[in-house]
Amino acid sequence: MFEHLHPLPQDPILSMLADYRADTRPNKLDLGIGVYKDEQGNTPIMRAVKEAESRLLTTEQSKSYTAPAGTPAYNQLASALVFGADHPALKDQRIVSAQTPGGCGALRMGAEFLRGCSQESRVWVSLPTWANHIPLLAGAGLEIAEYPYYDYATKGIQFEAMLEALEQASAGDFVLLHGCCHNPSGADLNQEQWHKVADLMARKGLIPFVDMAYQGLGNGLEEDAFGVRLLAQRFPEMLVATSCSKNFGLYRERTGTLFIVAANRAEAETAGSQLFSKIRSHYSMPPAHGAAIVETILSDTALTASWECELAAMRERIQGLRQQLVAAITASDIDGDFAFIQQQLGMFSFLGISPQQVDQLRQDYSIYMINSSRMNVAGLNQGSMDYFVSALAEVLSAR
Ligand code: LMR
Repeated sequence: MFEHLHPLPQDPILSMLADYRADTRPNKLDLGIGVYKDEQGNTPIMRAVKEAESRLLTTEQSKSYTAPAGTPAYNQLASALVFGADHPALKDQRIVSAQTPGGCGALRMGAEFLRGCSQESRVWVSLPTWANHIPLLAGAGLEIAEYPYYDYATKGIQFEAMLEALEQASAGDFVLLHGCCHNPSGADLNQEQWHKVADLMARKGLIPFVDMAYQGLGNGLEEDAFGVRLLAQRFPEMLVATSCSKNFGLYRERTGTLFIVAANRAEAETAGSQLFSKIRSHYSMPPAHGAAIVETILSDTALTASWECELAAMRERIQGLRQQLVAAITASDIDGDFAFIQQQLGMFSFLGISPQQVDQLRQDYSIYMINSSRMNVAGLNQGSMDYFVSALAEVLSAR
């Protein structure tokens, strides 16, 4: 039976990480996969996470099963973080939440839920979008449509084209929006644009599906939730997928959350029963450790303050690296305007170089980024900035 199988292409982000790890050259630089790195090039365990883990080691009483949704305490704290503790939809008990295995688990279970709502469910995704969005959503059987988003020429959002495309969507279609720190472009909707998108979607009967994997790494925990909170005020139904990989640094602990907002409490309960049944038939229940860490942090004022402080430092470091990179490129003999890097948010920006130039950076300088020229700005540091900019200058001058 297995002899009939064809090998599949590798995931571009994960295969690049494997190549980077196998590279033995000492000056190698990983600007590929979206993980935060500190000045020493390490992906640290946050102080609040370490403290929570040490508390859990002494206080945890059992490893018995939790539930398909994870624990109620985690779900309540995660809801408040995303929607704000006083959000009317939370007060009205219209939001069902389930802790999931990472943001991927949230997206996939959201897609499975939508597929269960209708065999014809269609979801619109930004062009471009994160490489794993389409496999996660289409793999559940959803039809995929695309709306233009990032303009490679202007390095900004093609907002009019985005609205025009969404005008073609049909009532009941879902629209996947990046809550903040758009992956892969770093180009985010401003508040006015969020309002306009919400107006269009409400008028056409479209339903939001927000992926927010980087809350706190753009402008701040509250600021980054602007779009999701606005939509949750205006729409009776929507989905939100979040991740604790980046803002809690819990990558390998696979901790995320899926929220389903329903029109009323009774419909939320029914939607929850559908979702929990899907979860039971996929992985039964999520891993507990990451969620226990988040629960420990968010239920303790001092740990929350420590976490927020460290998260702010991470965010400010990324913003500082963006500024330094633009300054270093401007001071070099590289032609072109790279100021857009400073305006974009989160870990990623498209450098705007060709796949051949990306390949040359990898071959000649051990500098790794995705072929699309998506670079993880957080992978830079003071020690590597000049090396990176002079390698870039070399590669661009060879045009
Ligand atoms: C990324 O985009 O690099 C991250 O979200 C990691 C991943 O799983 O792709």
